[in-house]
Amino acid sequence: MNIPPEILEFACKRVEKKAGCTLPFRLRGITINRGLIKATMEVLNDCPGKTLPQNCRNDLRARTPDGLDRRIREGVIMKVLVFGGTGFIGKNLCSELLSAGYKACIVSRNPKKAKSLASGAEVVEWNSSAGSLPVELLEGVSLIINLAGESIGNRRWTRSVKEEILYSRVRTTQAIVNAIKQKRDAPKVLINASAIGFYGPRGNEEITESTPAGRDFLAKVCRVWEEEAFKAHTVGIRVVAVRIGVVIGGEGAIARMKTPFRFYIGGPLGTGAQWISWIHIKDLTRLIRFVAENENINGPVNATAPEPVRMKELCKVLGQVMERPSWLPVPDFLLKVVLGEMSDMLLNSQRVLPKKILKEGFEFWYPAPEAALRDVICRHNGV
Ligand SMILES: NC(=O)c1ccc[n+]([C@@H]2O[C@H](COP(=O)([O-])OP(=O)(O)OC[C@H]3O[C@@H](n4cnc5c(N)ncnc54)[C@H](OP(=O)(O)O)[C@@H]3O)[C@@H](O)[C@H]2O)c1
Repeated sequence: MNIPPEILEFACKRVEKKAGCTLPFRLRGITINRGLIKATMEVLNDCPGKTLPQNCRNDLRARTPDGLDRRIREGVIMKVLVFGGTGFIGKNLCSELLSAGYKACIVSRNPKKAKSLASGAEVVEWNSSAGSLPVELLEGVSLIINLAGESIGNRRWTRSVKEEILYSRVRTTQAIVNAIKQKRDAPKVLINASAIGFYGPRGNEEITESTPAGRDFLAKVCRVWEEEAFKAHTVGIRVVAVRIGVVIGGEGAIARMKTPFRFYIGGPLGTGAQWISWIHIKDLTRLIRFVAENENINGPVNATAPEPVRMKELCKVLGQVMERPSWLPVPDFLLKVVLGEMSDMLLNSQRVLPKKILKEGFEFWYPAPEAALRDVICRHNGV
């Protein structure tokens, strides 16, 4: 099993900081293996009173052979069905789950693509437009993660595209919930994606999970989508709607914003005063796993970093990281002409706080945008 380098780097830095010493070279070595993790844990044990945060310790322990065995014995290792596992978030999530020892099965309209993306995962072909989901698919499954739905950022929102954005999500979720209802020993948890679009435009208001839904198109999509998922409550399973912010990673909106910066024509979209609530892809996949493994988390959860920023600030940081100026704003009217109603996604101000997940003890690796952007830009071939 390969240990993701991020976790090793994180562990090493934490150990050094907490223990107030530099790790011996053999621990900082280039070999990424279980031995390094075990040795890191040993260093920790030699430093009583100087500990890593609990969730990081758990993470490390889970990656040692002993840790894995314990988790299997305790029934924590789960078979997970992932819908939308071939998408931007799904691919990253499946690799997080597989490296943590989960058994993953991707349910996809495109099994060839799914197989090529996630080695180690089982793949099953299914299309929500074909109707119901075979109940047998849920055999032995204790966790379902649903990310599937027509992309909201790829095509102009014509009437038919809007219908597909809404109904692709509703159809898939309804099929999952109906199958859960028919299964005698139903899975324990359904984690359904949603988005901070749930809240609609909110200016400077601080948004938490108890803020009511907005009224625009995206708010309606998220509200209806979540309502379908929460119907699984009736059979007594835990349902969590993860309201995802703008994801900083190798794909998605922020990755697209890199292009004008690369050619020295980058700048904020709209006035730049709108709040952007973002999350690093690694924190998002860790957060989804944290939700899966913490039985007391229920209902909606905001998946955004604790430091939302204004668009102007985000672009300034992006420019600094890419060593390019952030000077050429794209005015609202132009975005509206080019993108139509889809421009709402970039122009709406949403200052979302991850109140619930912080209260449960989740630790963000990337709480501030600079480190998040730096990581993603360095990882994806710089500028
Ligand atoms: N990325 C973000 O910044 C962000 C922010 C907030 C919320 N979200 C939500 O989180 C979920 C995952 O996001 P993502 O960025 O990974 O999305 P994505 O890359 O567009 O992937 C979505 C997946 O859904 C399935 N899908 C696509 N069109 C479909 C259709 N018409 N009917 C049924 N299934 C369809 C596809 O899987 P198969 O082809 O394998 O079936 C696809 O891989 C989405 O629902 C999205 O709305 C994303």
